[in-house]
Amino acid sequence: MKVLITAGPTREPIDPVRYLSNRSSGKMGYALAAAFTEAGHQVLLISGPTKLDIPDGVDLIPVETAADMFEAVEHHLGRMDTAVFAAAVADYRPQEVPEHKIKKTGETLTMELIRNPDILGSCRGRFGFHGVLVGFAAETENLESNAREKLTRKGCDLVIANDVSQAGIGFDSDRNQILLVHPDHTESLPEDEKHHLAPRIVREIEILAARP
Ligand code: C5P
Repeated sequence: MKVLITAGPTREPIDPVRYLSNRSSGKMGYALAAAFTEAGHQVLLISGPTKLDIPDGVDLIPVETAADMFEAVEHHLGRMDTAVFAAAVADYRPQEVPEHKIKKTGETLTMELIRNPDILGSCRGRFGFHGVLVGFAAETENLESNAREKLTRKGCDLVIANDVSQAGIGFDSDRNQILLVHPDHTESLPEDEKHHLAPRIVREIEILAARP
């Protein structure tokens, strides 16, 4: 099948030399891209800036901002069977981006932020996507209930939830401990390396894709 994966952080410019971003390494999304390819699927990876090597056989569209990622997803989603949203998209971006570097003048600096579009949340309605839709939920509290709420609100078939309040797993780490949150049940997987979890997640998604 054809699989679109978003991965990594987004970078939202503040001025020509600064940006707002987050600690996402992109490792989970890249591990999934590699695992889908190894299982014989065709992968389009739409990724924010990371230090990772592009897995063999994967088509990459590099992006910087949430708006770039939105546009790339909108353009390619129509020909996909499955879409997996592993990117840590910045929720807000600076409203005004000046042409020149901001000077340090006052003792404080106030910046107005504006909401970024919800890319995953646009798939079912605005983009009219009918394929298998998988989201991620990085939470610091009420992991399962927050993930389940996301599953319903964003029209996902599966949400992969991880607790990012625990040191050593999740964000910016090689390891992860995840819950597979389905519409009718939740399965907890033991903590493991992301590249071991990825083939397990691929098999789960293949089962969803095979359903009539
Ligand atoms: O709402 P929240 O950001 O917690 O949702 C997380 C899920 O939504 C992830 O799968 C993430 O990739 C996706 N997302 C997105 N566009 C946004 C925010 C989140 O695609 N602007």
